[in-house]
Amino acid sequence: MTNQAAAQRVSVIGLGAMGTALAKALLAGGHEVTVWNRTPARAEALVADGARVATSSAEALTAADLLIVCVLDDAAVREHLEPVAARLRGRTVVNLTTTTPEQARSSGRWARAAGVELIDGGIMAIPDMIGGPGAFVLYSGAGAAFARYRSVLELFGAAEFVGEDLGAAAMYDVSILGGMYAMFAAFHQGGAMVRTTGGTAARLAELMTPFLQAMATTLTAQAPGIDTPAEYVQPQSDEFTAAAIDLIDKSAAESGNPTELYGGLRRTLVGR
Ligand SMILES: NC(=O)c1ccc[n+]([C@@H]2O[C@H](COP(=O)([O-])OP(=O)(O)OC[C@H]3O[C@@H](n4cnc5c(N)ncnc54)[C@H](OP(=O)(O)O)[C@@H]3O)[C@@H](O)[C@H]2O)c1
Repeated sequence: MTNQAAAQRVSVIGLGAMGTALAKALLAGGHEVTVWNRTPARAEALVADGARVATSSAEALTAADLLIVCVLDDAAVREHLEPVAARLRGRTVVNLTTTTPEQARSSGRWARAAGVELIDGGIMAIPDMIGGPGAFVLYSGAGAAFARYRSVLELFGAAEFVGEDLGAAAMYDVSILGGMYAMFAAFHQGGAMVRTTGGTAARLAELMTPFLQAMATTLTAQAPGIDTPAEYVQPQSDEFTAAAIDLIDKSAAESGNPTELYGGLRRTLVGR
């Protein structure tokens, strides 16, 4: 078992905006960090912070016990990990590249065959937030490896393990982002709607923000309606919710704005 208090040998593969922030957090945490980036100049920039630069991805991937991968997409991950899979036996790969849940599970298949402990991660932060109080990262997959390296991973932000299914972190990630985009879409549509009355999106933001913050606190109380629906008594009837959404839809139509957003909301919330 790895000593959590001791400095770890960690490699970071991919030094874009996010990979660079992750490498800096590891260096600041006192770890022995090897870095590699496809465009070498980005790696050289970390030497002053104490990083050792590998000349190939294979060299970086075999230089440490804990491998942090943060490249553009799933194809780039496979391009660099699969050819050296046989040399990664016994190591832990934490893939912080954004992927779909199925891509994460698919990586799990070659990792299992190669004897690699794979953890998939979803970063809920922008690079400037890494290591700061607001950042958190979702992890799923190899639970024992997560427990072993938790204190290292916490250098990036709060570490939230969401299950052994490798697809879980990606699924929570996209679900949280889905909530954000649904909110943004409703604000953009609402902004256009209030402007037809002489109002402004700025005034709407002022009024909508505290209301949405208050509504967000009700999500936990709503969760049993999805997790254990047979036991859940919903506070508002489907008829009430459908009528409220229809009113928004009608107001959008009356003001010459699109209505497709609300049809989708109604089908999701009341099933019709
Ligand atoms: N930035 C964010 O706010 C944020 C937040 C959450 C999650 N993420 C995720 O973090 C990952 C990296 O994002 P980023 O912001 O660092 O992006 P970025 O600044 O655009 O950097 C992309 C990185 O991927 C590398 N890359 C692309 N194709 C490659 C290939 N075929 N082989 C090897 N390396 C390749 C690039 O290398 P070169 O330097 O050679 O081009 C660069 O290091 C993405 O999956 C992203 O979704 C980012």
